[in-house]
Amino acid sequence: DAVERGEYRHYMQKEIFEQPRAVADTLEARIGPHGVLPNIFGIDSDALLQATRGLHIIACGTSYHAGLVAKYWIEEYARLPVSVEVASEYRYRDAVVPADTLFVAISQSGETADTLAAMRESRRRGYLGTLVICNSPESSLVREADLKLMTRAGPEIGVASTKAFTTQLAGLALLTLELARRNGLDPQRYATLCAELQHLPRAIESALKLEPAIIELAGEFIHHQHALFLGRGAQYPVALEGSLKLKEISYIHAEAYPAGELKHGPLALVDEHMPVVAVAPNGPLLDKLKSNLQEVRARGGRLIVFADGAAGMDDMAKHGAMLRVESGGSFIAPAVFTVPLQLLAYHVAVLRGTDVDQPRNLAKSVTVE
Ligand code: G6P
Repeated sequence: DAVERGEYRHYMQKEIFEQPRAVADTLEARIGPHGVLPNIFGIDSDALLQATRGLHIIACGTSYHAGLVAKYWIEEYARLPVSVEVASEYRYRDAVVPADTLFVAISQSGETADTLAAMRESRRRGYLGTLVICNSPESSLVREADLKLMTRAGPEIGVASTKAFTTQLAGLALLTLELARRNGLDPQRYATLCAELQHLPRAIESALKLEPAIIELAGEFIHHQHALFLGRGAQYPVALEGSLKLKEISYIHAEAYPAGELKHGPLALVDEHMPVVAVAPNGPLLDKLKSNLQEVRARGGRLIVFADGAAGMDDMAKHGAMLRVESGGSFIAPAVFTVPLQLLAYHVAVLRGTDVDQPRNLAKSVTVE
């Protein structure tokens, strides 16, 4: 065990630091100087992806959050409608399936009972076909899907998923680009997005350098019972993932909100006992997010802001802390900003002395309903 963990104290920490390699492996031989390579989703993928007019993405837990990011990406760049749903709801509900919809399952293990049952159920619902993004080549989901893309995270031991998530995002980014190219994305824009994606392993590498600063921040959380995570746009699912990480391993109650919803409820909870973590890369929504954060400040809430150095963000640090993350561009930013949130959850849990790799009551793979 200690040999496998090497210099790291827990598998989770090791797996967080393996992300540059895992993402690079997932992109390897799938994207080149001219874009996404042919047939990376399987030999029969061409006709199916060409015919796709919409997507239903189904998953559980962290994999569900990856699906939520993909909705923002695919709708923006490929202009195809996407719905994302947790498998346990989808499987028992009479979902409407428009013509030429692709069913997409996302799963680290490929054995999650609800996700597998949802895919089996989808066969009766008239989809164009099924695609799975998965980290386990021999799994049931992979065996049963029409199209597949394997993430190459390698074995993930920590129950709280980290490198599986960022490699899923890498796989979903490839899917986004493939669909965008087929649906009229401007070739120059396509080339820019491809270059951004190829930079992702290095961007994650540089985000990992924040660890010492995050260790300092972690101390602030240990005596709190609650935390709020805020994001907007494709960073909202990142906030969800950050809050899930914190609750899974540190047992602090954490909730994520799209920052624009703050005044519709969670603001009532904000006082000096509520740390508020905001994911705030530069982008068209940054000014809106800033005014949301001002509302938190005005109520004495302690802000912890992850930003990429956009003007005016330093000011936020007056009532809290600001950590600078180089996003590497707006397309890959959700994957990059995930990393400091993983580190934050990890170090809070370490300080609280929980069983980080095996949190109470949770399982790595939920193979029964
Ligand atoms: C469990 C794990 C999570 C995981 C979820 C979905 O809850 O603890 O880390 O995200 O299952 O698992 P899957 O293997 O389908 O991605």
